[in-house]
Order: sequence, then structure tokens, then C-alpha cells
Amino acid sequence: MQAVQFAGHGDTDVIEYGDYPDPEVGSDEVLVEIRAGALNHLDLWVRRGMPGIDLEMPHVPGSDAAGVVREVGAEVSRFSAGDRAALSAGVSCGDCEFCRNGQYTLCTGFHIIGEHVRGVHSEYAAVPEANLIPVPEGVDWAIAGSAPLVFQTAWRMLIDRAEIEPGESILVLGASGGVGHAAVQIAAYAGAEVYATGSTEAKLEAARELGADHVCNYEEESFADWVREETGKRGVDVVVDHVGGNTWRESIRALAKGGRLVTCGATTGPNPETDVRRIFWNGLSVLGSTMATPGQVDDVMELVWDGQLEPAIRETLPMSEAARGHELLEGREGFGKVVLVPDSVEEP
Ligand SMILES: NC(=O)c1ccc[n+]([C@@H]2O[C@H](COP(=O)([O-])OP(=O)(O)OC[C@H]3O[C@@H](n4cnc5c(N)ncnc54)[C@H](OP(=O)(O)O)[C@@H]3O)[C@@H](O)[C@H]2O)c1
Ligand SMILES: [Zn+2]
Repeated sequence: MQAVQFAGHGDTDVIEYGDYPDPEVGSDEVLVEIRAGALNHLDLWVRRGMPGIDLEMPHVPGSDAAGVVREVGAEVSRFSAGDRAALSAGVSCGDCEFCRNGQYTLCTGFHIIGEHVRGVHSEYAAVPEANLIPVPEGVDWAIAGSAPLVFQTAWRMLIDRAEIEPGESILVLGASGGVGHAAVQIAAYAGAEVYATGSTEAKLEAARELGADHVCNYEEESFADWVREETGKRGVDVVVDHVGGNTWRESIRALAKGGRLVTCGATTGPNPETDVRRIFWNGLSVLGSTMATPGQVDDVMELVWDGQLEPAIRETLPMSEAARGHELLEGREGFGKVVLVPDSVEEP
């Protein structure tokens, strides 16, 4: 089969699209013929190489994809050939202290398909049955193949970790990114007053269309000052921060007393300074979040299948142009998800 792959870490020029051995299907696995997948910022981290993660090379990246089931292992019961399925990439053991309490994302063996093990940006992928979600007829492959990772992440951040309530004010940073644009939609769906930041007017306009009530170009002004002005010095109840280093201090400054900062990423660096006094004096909470439990994935994907939440498609590219997709994310060009389609698929 053909697969996106790289034999060593580096810049986008390490990415190739070419022959790769056909996957073998384990007894608890399902073979999916991929119709569409999507890039996440995670794919950039994986390509560059991450400390502590030693990948088998060549590595096939990709943590989002959807397609048609072609074969199932002997122990598989929920899927059969011909079914439509999408990947949810988080893998947990089911047996550790945390899994036994339903806290699957805290699993001591938690890992992500595409990040720690072979991914799905290929013509075929064999993945554990537990990592597949059924896709209803009529749902576009580009939607099914691009929504799961970022929508589950934003859902858990807002609904489970920050426990947002209707009427609360929520600031979403980087509203043009995968997680950001999902968070804007989920916050609006939950009845919150949505504040969003972005680096261009076009991104801010797109954020408004997805439900942002107030927008700020943070390249032109401090977003914390802007929030304080817009809220009569009060600040917002929740900040969704996936940007990390560059935004952390301002995120904390943008919070109202008793506010919650929920974080899932550190795109601009992992070691921001924190004014500890602001945290204790203002009674702030800092909440970490990663991916989501299978039940939370079901809840949010139900809304995606219904069309109540919908990934915006930044661009659709053949898998042979995956490197171009990485450049779009790296260069912060466009809004939403970059979809990748196997070159052999004519109409995704
Ligand atoms: N823990 C988890 O489960 C989890 C899940 C998904 C993602 N993440 C992490 O969350 C972060 C966002 O992921 P994503 O897939 O949504 O990424 P993405 O689609 O590439 O979006 C990143 C956004 O961040 C903003 N940004 C601000 N400063 C940036 C900079 N210096 N470089 C790049 N972007 C910058 C950009 O918007 P503007 O240009 O408008 O500012 C951009 O829209 C990543 O660090 C990712 O690893 C974590
Ligand atoms: Zn576990």
C-alpha cells in the first residue's frame, strides 16, 4: 500500500509518500480502507521528534482518519466488513488504577495512535476495535476523518474539566487552530459568551461565524487588556489555552476571580512564567486536559454527526502533499483542519 512516512526526524522534507508493507490485522483489530484523514499539530511534534518517544522507523504518522471496514480480527464484535468508521486515537490499557475508575485519559500506559505507534495516514490502517467509532451514512469523509481528535479534546476541556455553564464567559485562544475552532463551537453550543483571539482579520471573521461573540487580534493589542476592557475589568470565567509559553501570563491575567484556566498544549513552549500570587489571591484553578474518554468521544461525535458541531476545512490535499499540509500549520496559514486524502481516492 501507499503511506505517508518518514525514516528519520526533521523538517518537512523528511516526509515521503510511497510503498509501505500492508498492515497485518490482529485478533482485536479492524482493517480500514482510509478515505480521508487530517493533520493535527501533533503530527508536527512527531515529525520533529519528541524526547522520550523512540519510534520504529520508517514511521507512518496520522492520528485522525476515517474509512470503510474491509476486514475484522477474530475477536472483533462491533464492526464488520463494509461498515463506516472513524478513528479515535487515544489508547488506554483498561486495567490500571485510573482505567478501573473510568479515567481512561489518565491511564498509566496512555498513548496515541500516530504519536507513539504507527498512524493512519495511509491507504489502509489496522487499528484496535476499541479505537473506532461508527460513522453514519451521509456524513462526509472529510468531516469524519478530521473531527475526532480536536473535538474530543475541546469537549473534555470545556465540558468535563472546566465544567462550563450557560452564560459564563469563555476566552478561546488560537481560535483558528483545530482545538481552538472546536472550542469556540462547543462553548457557543453550551450557551457561553464566547471571546476569541486570532492573528488576522480573516481568522477572526471565521471565528465569529462559528459562534464567537467578541474577537481580538492579539498581534495588535494585549488580549488580557482587551478582555478586561470588554468585561468592565472583571475578566472571563474560563480561558482555553493550547498556545502555552507565549500566552500563559496573559491568560492568567484575563481570568476573573475564581476563574479556570484549562490547558491542553504548549505550541509556543512548555515553561511559561507564572505569577503565583495571582493564582492564590484570585482563587484561580489551573486544569490540565488530554484527549477524552470513550464516552465523551461518543457524546461529542454525536453532535458532529448531527451537524451541530462541524470541523472547518482549511484545505484538502492528496497524501503525497502532506509536507505542504505541515507547512500550512507551521506557517499558521488558514483556519481549521487540513484534510489528507490517499492519492488513490478520487472523491473523498
Ligand atoms: N493534550 C491533548 O490532548 C491535545 C490535543 C490536541 C492538541 N493538543 C495541542 O494543542 C496545540 C494546538 O493543536 P492544534 O492541532 O489545534 O494546532 P493548530 O491547528 O496548528 O493550531 C494552532 C493555533 O495556535 C495559534 N498559535 C499561536 N501562536 C502560534 C505559534 N507560534 N505557532 C503556531 N501556532 C500558533 C495559531 O493561531 P493564530 O496564528 O491565529 O494565533 C493556530 O491557529 C498543540 O500544541 C497540540 O499539540 C493537545
Ligand atoms: Zn490504564
